[in-house]
Amino acid sequence: MDTETLSYIPVRRAYDTRFYEVDWDNLEAGRYTTDHMLICDYSGGQWQQAEIVPFGPFSLPPTALVFHYGQTIFEGMKAFRTVDDRVHIFRVDKHYERLVRTAERMSMPVVSPELFHEGLRRLVELEKNWVPAQAGGALYLRPFQIATDARLSVKVSDTYRFAIVCSPTGSYFSRPVRVKVERSYVRAARGGTGYAKCGGNYGGALYPTELARAEGYDQVLWTDGRDHEYIEESGMMNVFLVIGNSLVTPPLTDTILDGVTRDSLLVLGADLGLRVEERPISVEELRDGLKSRWVSEAFGAGTAAVVSPIRAIGIDGEDYTLPVAGDLGSITCRLKNALDDVRYGRQPDTYGWNNFI
Ligand SMILES: Cc1ncc(COP(=O)(O)O)c(C=O)c1O
Repeated sequence: MDTETLSYIPVRRAYDTRFYEVDWDNLEAGRYTTDHMLICDYSGGQWQQAEIVPFGPFSLPPTALVFHYGQTIFEGMKAFRTVDDRVHIFRVDKHYERLVRTAERMSMPVVSPELFHEGLRRLVELEKNWVPAQAGGALYLRPFQIATDARLSVKVSDTYRFAIVCSPTGSYFSRPVRVKVERSYVRAARGGTGYAKCGGNYGGALYPTELARAEGYDQVLWTDGRDHEYIEESGMMNVFLVIGNSLVTPPLTDTILDGVTRDSLLVLGADLGLRVEERPISVEELRDGLKSRWVSEAFGAGTAAVVSPIRAIGIDGEDYTLPVAGDLGSITCRLKNALDDVRYGRQPDTYGWNNFI
């Protein structure tokens, strides 16, 4: 990278580091942030100069639209350290494409692909030593954007702040989870914002998830918003089932987030010789399959948890235990390893997913 491109985003360095305050042997997801963040403001119909500055609070008027009307969007991706000690960001393009779709749905302007890529690259380069080397570790990257107009009325904001913060993580949700098929509450309806990564989708999911937790589950498995007949996705994860000899996941609609992990596993699953299917899965098919054990494995897939084996599924008050929950040699385990092999540089990156910095 030449100096001109590097100097495009000015850096104001932090005086101190919080690096030594981190319990590196016990990286709790989302707990720690690195020393710097990127910020870029939008006003007068254009993006202003982006900057990398010390991590710290924003100052916003209490009337900023983001606090009231939910114009807030985000992405979640990871930087990995490979076994030969190089650092890359996984599938940046795919995350950018999703940010563009999300921003459009929320009537927000979007930063250019150059700023997105270069901003991430520059920030991760600066925070390189924060990218964990341990198994399952990564530097979680959170680009987000908020509406900043000060106005107590519902309107599309004219000003925004885009920012990127980073958080070192270990492996998360590694033990097999219990999920509850949700038949009353709705995460997303046709024509709504389910396919977008906007704050409201997550705020609205908290209460049903708390109720499921009180019943002893870890997560809800959402069903379609109209009839609650088809399974959709789970928490911050897309859902996969192993049915017979096939790896099956619900097809993308406007109520399901187009997960980057989901897409990667479909590709790697086919490479492993599995039959991969994107098709609707009804709760009835799931129940019958669990009873007959034709459904042998189930797991969630997402950037944060990577692959999260499901141990039991609750349907209408009855719990069904999966015969296999991420055990060694299972399809869940083989898929997770295949993805990790690419990301940690143990296998060739055939699809050009690793964007080295
Ligand atoms: C609702 C929802 N579904 C699925 C996913 C998985 O997407 P990805 O694999 O891109 O992280 C996420 C996480 O970002 C999510 O928030």
